[in-house]
Amino acid sequence: MAALAACTPDSALPSPVAANAPTGASEASPSSPAVLAEPSTAAPAVAAPTSASPSSAISTQYSLTDPTSQWVIVNKHRPLAPQNFVPPDLVQPDVRLAVSGEAALLNSTTAAATEKMFSAAAAEGVILALASGYRSYSTQIVTYNGYVNSSGQAAADRASARPGYSEHQTGWSFDISDGGGACSFQPCFAEQPAAVWAKANAYKFGFVVRYPWMFHETTGYFYESWHLRFIGLEAATDMATRGIETLEEYFGLDAAPDYL
Ligand code: DAL
Ligand code: ZN
Repeated sequence: MAALAACTPDSALPSPVAANAPTGASEASPSSPAVLAEPSTAAPAVAAPTSASPSSAISTQYSLTDPTSQWVIVNKHRPLAPQNFVPPDLVQPDVRLAVSGEAALLNSTTAAATEKMFSAAAAEGVILALASGYRSYSTQIVTYNGYVNSSGQAAADRASARPGYSEHQTGWSFDISDGGGACSFQPCFAEQPAAVWAKANAYKFGFVVRYPWMFHETTGYFYESWHLRFIGLEAATDMATRGIETLEEYFGLDAAPDYL
């Protein structure tokens, strides 16, 4: 059921902000604060990743710690280092934008893959829009504190990364919308054509749905059907082929349900 998916509008502040605001926390806010739904009756989430690793067929292995690496793993156990990292190659992709300012930026590799993916979706009649891309350390402070102020820290930690712990700061991640539907950043987005298409096809362009359904005990976040992460075509295809859902499992890392 849709309510199982935590709505995690990580670029949407709890109080309304103007669409296209230049802060980067600039996705048009949902009409209500983040829905911080708890899982209920579904099967337990995977508590700890099984041992897995990239296939030996993967031609290049990348760092899991360098934030300029397409395999960098950022989660509640693995903050960015340096904490105030800024991608050196931020660009604005030539795609439909639902945001402006820094949030319309991605690192150059992710931007190029995003252009290809959005074009492919459009060719199949599916509109994808960039709803929240890069987010600076200072923006994440504002975003996270907004959740804390409206919902308390426990709820905030289920929806928004603490400053220095967000993939959005790497330039490798972004959130999609469908360019105007009412479900942006809401659980019901999972059933929209944009999310359905992305779930089925993102790997073909090097992306994974970073916070999949019912893996919050591994990733630290409930389902975010809108949050995509670039890891490269080979690794994304490898994960899809092997049915591996999380980067923690794929790289044989600890589950990161909570901050240390
Ligand atoms: N919502 C994701 C986890 C973030 O804040 O980066
Ligand atoms: Zn996101």
